This record gives sequence, C-alpha cells and structure tokens, in this order.
Amino acid sequence: MRKQLLAGNWKMNGSVSTIEAYFSDFRECLGLPISDVLKKVDICFAVPFTLLAKAKEVFKGTDVQVAAQNCHFEEKGAYTGEVSLGMLAELGINSSLVAHSERRQYYNETDQSTSHKVKCMLDKGFIPILCVGETQAEREQGLTNKVLESQLSAVFACIDKLDSVVIAYEPVWAIGTGLAATPELADEAHRFIREFAKKRFGGEAAAKLKILYGGSMKPENTDSLLAKEHIDGGLVGGASLKPSDFASMVKSAYQRA
Ligand code: PGA
Repeated sequence: MRKQLLAGNWKMNGSVSTIEAYFSDFRECLGLPISDVLKKVDICFAVPFTLLAKAKEVFKGTDVQVAAQNCHFEEKGAYTGEVSLGMLAELGINSSLVAHSERRQYYNETDQSTSHKVKCMLDKGFIPILCVGETQAEREQGLTNKVLESQLSAVFACIDKLDSVVIAYEPVWAIGTGLAATPELADEAHRFIREFAKKRFGGEAAAKLKILYGGSMKPENTDSLLAKEHIDGGLVGGASLKPSDFASMVKSAYQRA
C-alpha cells in the first residue's frame, strides 16, 4: 500500500519568526506523538527559500520533510533570482515542487523547463513533486486528459524511470478558490495519470507512484478525498497555513492508514 503524503505548500507565506510557534501548535493539535504519526503518514512542508534553513532546524530530530517550491536545473551561473539544486542540497533539502500552476502562469514555466528540472532532480537524488492540472476553460472543453497527457509526456520523455517522482494533480480552477474537485472527479484524473504512467513505466512503477490531490483541500473534504483509491495524499495551500487545520488533515490520513 502507498503511504499517504500530506504536503503543505506555504507559497509566499510564513516567517522565520513564527515557524517555531507554528510547529509547536501543529504538534499540539495532532494530539499524538509526531513520531507515531510519521510511521503511517509522510509530512512535508514546501516553504519559501528564506525559511528552508530555519524549517530544517525546527523540524530537526523528526522525519518531517522540508521542500523548496522551485529550483533551477543549472548548477550555477548568471540566473538572477534562481536557486540551484546544489544550493538546496547544502541546506539538507532534497525535494522541490516543480511547475506549480502559479509558476506556469506567472513565470512562464514551460513543459520544457519542467522536464529539464525533473531530469536533473532525479540525477541528483532529489524528490520532484511535479504539479499538473487543467484550467477551467480546458475542463469545460473536455480537454482535461489531453492537458494531463501533454504535461506528463513532456516529462516522461526525458526520464527513464519514475524513481522518486511524486505527482500532484492540481486542477487550476480549484486552487485557492474554495472550489475543490469532488472526490470522484479527482480520482478519475488520478486514475488517468496512473494509467498513463503505467503505459510508459510499467505496472509496478505506476502502482508505487504517489499522486497527491491539490486545490482547496481542507479538513472538511480530506477524508472523502483520501478515501479514493488513487488519491495518495494532498498538496495543501491555504489550509496548511493554519496549524490546527493542517494537523486535522494529517490526522484524517493517519486514521485511514
Ligand atoms: P489551495 O492551494 O489548497 O490553497 O487551493 C493548493 C496549491 O496551490 O498547492
């Protein structure tokens, strides 16, 4: 069985001065030793670059994972504003979100740069959390599977095995809107993603692939989403900023495990 992963995506939120208090509230709200919870559920926080070092320090001694929200595929050079995998590795970070829809939308991230990043991450032993998903207009035109196929095939063409890749299905129309996909609709997309991965990498790899749901996931819908066969956790934006909400979502996953 696939271990569930609850990953908080803090986006451009959080601060060095409050992360310690966040974590102690989060632990308190869990109401269980975090080491017990982590035996059944993986927990990750994707925080802004400025919080990575502090997050590593605060979560030290636990298996809580810390991820970046973006990375560059080049080692170093004239790429103002970018951060390389080597720089992340220096901080003990070995995971990053890739191609979140906000990056695709506001920073022109393409399937090409995304593929390049995923390939470099796998080469360096990183865990890419690859985000895919359709816009409202694409869904309305019945293009959801086509969009997923084209986003995934660009990346799949550049890698030989799935390895540690995690995929986050994030319908763009559900992100930050309060309009989560229904569990049925999300599961349908997840199933499609798994089938597509199976065609390229075979049944064993596809069965192991973690596919997270993202887009207005919150305490009220976590249980019904996680009940679905192909939903292996969540990439949680807004609700991960509140320790009590995120703890309650992690607890739902724990109770299901
Ligand atoms: P949301 O964001 O949970 O606030 O909708 C999810 C995401 O963008 O990863």
